[in-house]
Amino acid sequence: MAEQSIWMQKVAADPDHSTWFIERFRSMARAGDDLAGEARLVDSMVPRHARILDAGCGSGRVGGALAEAGHDVVGVDVDPALIEAAEQDHPGPRWLVGDLAELNLPSRGIPTPFDAVVCAGNVMTFLAPSTRREVLRRFRAHLAPDGRAAIGFGGGRGYEFGEFFADAAAVALEPDLLLSTWDLRPFTTDSTFLVALLRPA
Ligand SMILES: C[S@@+](CC[C@H](N)C(=O)[O-])C[C@H]1O[C@@H](n2cnc3c(N)ncnc32)[C@H](O)[C@@H]1O
Repeated sequence: MAEQSIWMQKVAADPDHSTWFIERFRSMARAGDDLAGEARLVDSMVPRHARILDAGCGSGRVGGALAEAGHDVVGVDVDPALIEAAEQDHPGPRWLVGDLAELNLPSRGIPTPFDAVVCAGNVMTFLAPSTRREVLRRFRAHLAPDGRAAIGFGGGRGYEFGEFFADAAAVALEPDLLLSTWDLRPFTTDSTFLVALLRPA
């Protein structure tokens, strides 16, 4: 069994953590905030009616927007409360409770490959550190040969960008394009955020 994710450690320490997160995004949605920036980038990367895996989908804002754009979305998250919220707030996609470190969708009756994997909202920094490379390996295993993973997370959160690039290379995922924002600003050595578009090597 995989080491418990940092996210679920937070939930164990504070049972209100999931509710706080769900309400935060519900209140931003009510206020009319733009919650679909990541989805717009991913939508531009894939054909119409693509198969997209929302990895660490949370309460479903990214996968929900991609489903609204006509894609076939599967969302996976380790936190059952967030999956319940995704089902309520964004009906349509298949929302599944699961640990990305053990991701094996064919074993749950969901075929591969996917045209894209999106992993937004600092998910990589909430994984148990011992599982990061395995999670990337499983992303690659679920991707089509010409598919891509779009992975975004901030610096200063315990997962150095250099370590991430080494982990990706170790599982034969190579950079297609490196950005510092989801609205396409370039990644530089000074960037404090990374959006990595990775392809199977
Ligand atoms: C800050 S939230 C982001 C949620 C969503 N991607 C978004 O951008 O709205 C981080 C998410 O990572 C998920 N997560 C962390 N470790 C995970 C793991 N090992 N397997 C699946 N999900 C995980 C958490 O449950 C949480 O939903």
